[in-house]
Amino acid sequence: MSLLTVDVDAAGYGPATVLRDMRFGVPAGGRLVVLGANGAGKTTVLRTISGLCRAEGSIRLDGTELVGMPTHRIAGAGLAHVPQGRGTFGDLTVRENLLVGGSTRPRRSVAADADRWMERFPRLGERSARPASGLSGGEQQLLAIARALMSAPRVLLLDEPSLGLAPKVTTDLFATLDELGRETGTAMLLVEQNAEVALGIAEDALVIESGRITVRGSAAELRDNDDVRRAYLGV
Ligand SMILES: Nc1ncnc2c1ncn2[C@@H]1O[C@H](COP(=O)(O)OP(=O)(O)O)[C@@H](O)[C@H]1O
Ligand SMILES: [Mg+2]
Repeated sequence: MSLLTVDVDAAGYGPATVLRDMRFGVPAGGRLVVLGANGAGKTTVLRTISGLCRAEGSIRLDGTELVGMPTHRIAGAGLAHVPQGRGTFGDLTVRENLLVGGSTRPRRSVAADADRWMERFPRLGERSARPASGLSGGEQQLLAIARALMSAPRVLLLDEPSLGLAPKVTTDLFATLDELGRETGTAMLLVEQNAEVALGIAEDALVIESGRITVRGSAAELRDNDDVRRAYLGV
């Protein structure tokens, strides 16, 4: 049984259809990575789940139909989305960014949670009163992820967290994601161009090309797939 079930015939922007026959599931606590080249439709997959695109079909979170639900209610249903690029509010402080992430929850527990994140990640704690825009790229991505987890989601959608980060920073960030996933039990749907790191923390994987799924299997199977190796692993 999947926690998140995507069963979409078509999705896109206004009259433009970008995705077709997009069908997959993410189990509770599981991790699925969606690989694909630039322009393949990865961001659109996440935006469709978050209610930001036109979708025909069904998307269910623990049985609740999300298609047709407004974005803020989808978030309230247990989904958090870290968008591509800067997922933080640059003008707000680090602490304020975390508090915004928990705005749907009771105030007192949110403040305590924000403190816990800043203890856990001292680089954020040291900068708690500074604008998020002053953080390095890797720290901003970490803050964006912490902010998303502040809503205590059941599923975390992550859009190319490695984008623009140095290889070492990316490796560290994915190790942290792996840990946080284990600790919180949050399921993850991760889209990436960096197949190497993404397959390393995922159980299952899909490849999309021109808005359609072309390969699917376990992360280990995709790592051994010659086409995937050539196209996405630079082998
Ligand atoms: N707002 C939009 N309106 C119309 N088409 C869009 C919009 N955003 C993206 N697209 C198109 O959707 C396709 C997939 O884009 P995207 O999901 O951003 O790909 P990826 O994230 O894999 O790079 C591209 O052909 C792109 O031109
Ligand atoms: Mg994208």
